[in-house]
Amino acid sequence: MTERTNDLAAFWLPFTPNRQFRSNPRLLSGAAGMYYQTPEGRRILDATAGLWCVNAGHCRPSIVAALQRQAAQLDYAPPFQFAHPPAFALATRLAALAPGDLDHVFFCNSGSEAVDSALKIAIAWHQQRGEAGRTRLIGRERAYHGVGFGGVSVGGMVNNRRSFGPLLTGVDHLPHTYSRGRQAFTKGEPKWGAHLAEDLERIVALHDASTIAAVIVEPMAGSTGVLPPPAGYLQRLREICTSHGILLIFDEVITGFGRLGAAFAAERFSVTPDMICFAKGVSNAAAPLGGVIVRQPIYDAFMKGPEHMIELMHGYTYSAHPLGVAAAHAALDLYQEENLFARAAALEPVWADAIHTLRDAPLVEDIRTIGLAAGVDLAPLPDAPGKRGFDAMRAAFHDQDMMVRVSGDTIALSPPLILSEEEIDEITRRMRAMLNRLAESFCEGER
Ligand SMILES: Cc1ncc(COP(=O)(O)O)c(C=O)c1O
Repeated sequence: MTERTNDLAAFWLPFTPNRQFRSNPRLLSGAAGMYYQTPEGRRILDATAGLWCVNAGHCRPSIVAALQRQAAQLDYAPPFQFAHPPAFALATRLAALAPGDLDHVFFCNSGSEAVDSALKIAIAWHQQRGEAGRTRLIGRERAYHGVGFGGVSVGGMVNNRRSFGPLLTGVDHLPHTYSRGRQAFTKGEPKWGAHLAEDLERIVALHDASTIAAVIVEPMAGSTGVLPPPAGYLQRLREICTSHGILLIFDEVITGFGRLGAAFAAERFSVTPDMICFAKGVSNAAAPLGGVIVRQPIYDAFMKGPEHMIELMHGYTYSAHPLGVAAAHAALDLYQEENLFARAAALEPVWADAIHTLRDAPLVEDIRTIGLAAGVDLAPLPDAPGKRGFDAMRAAFHDQDMMVRVSGDTIALSPPLILSEEEIDEITRRMRAMLNRLAESFCEGER
């Protein structure tokens, strides 16, 4: 073994320009509530709940205590052929939170695994029912469904797709729902765009319903820059899926656990899908956990055949890991005790009004808000798509002590649901200061 100095090179960072990062790292060493802390002791206002996941704020003592207790009592239990009791209790709680007869939970560790699990369950379910021809999957342009081959295949973000070969075959995509011309500066669901769901009929006509297993959408597209669904769009998708026997999967990895002011976006929009993918906020991100909640008839279709036979040949070593489960119980307790989903709903208009004041800030081309989320599109730099967003994220961190997330030239804001009205103002103020600086330095560069 050779001695190596830690020059920050050995860790290949995900979704990060590694060489730039090493030259000026953004390191985090602590966190509490709405704030991160850097190794040099700066307090960073967290305007993104980590990665859309720390919905109850950081290092909440009850979650910390639950993790400590669990680690000391049962570190690990294999989920194949064995189980630990809190996992059943958690599944029961999640089923109670989900609408309708979404009553059974398949656990995994991440959003990507949740999506791939849901896609596999969909195809396998049709096979169970004697419709083995239904294998085609329908995603949507500009969708993000994680990084597994299934999720990338149904996803619609070109940069995530183009380096990885042909991906899954038999996948089609609905059009995305964003039109700046018709929707600019909307709060909540844009009025224009419900008709885009009709494109599913075109895809059905092209391939025939008998070949289609499932449609998967994020109720609100998050990672592509916060695209709320047009009013009526999800309802229409539901109707078309039902009429053709196609399963509808909501990927609620971001929208679950309060982001849109309800336990799930399905509840907010009054549309019940056949499966819900979740992760992130379920455990407040204190330990990895994800999963798929499925409707009763889907589960029932698998529960047949000889009783000693495994019904679904799928699972992960860390499905329902005791630490993830413990964190999730404690997080759900906090959401309930502090009424955080209702709090997000109550703050939505305050948040929307504050963020929309940035309409006249330099470089801003569009703003979309829904729940406690916002997408702020910045004017791209000529010939350098994504550079403006990247500069904005760095300027927010280094100059404004604030964490924001960017997707291309769009800033995505998604603060913990515990934030105060003062902190909403603070996020807005720091955003404006950052945009002013960014615009000034661009003008200086031009001189
Ligand atoms: C809608 C959606 N699906 C899936 C994922 C992937 O989750 P993970 O990074 O936990 O695999 C994400 C992550 O942001 C997401 O936003």
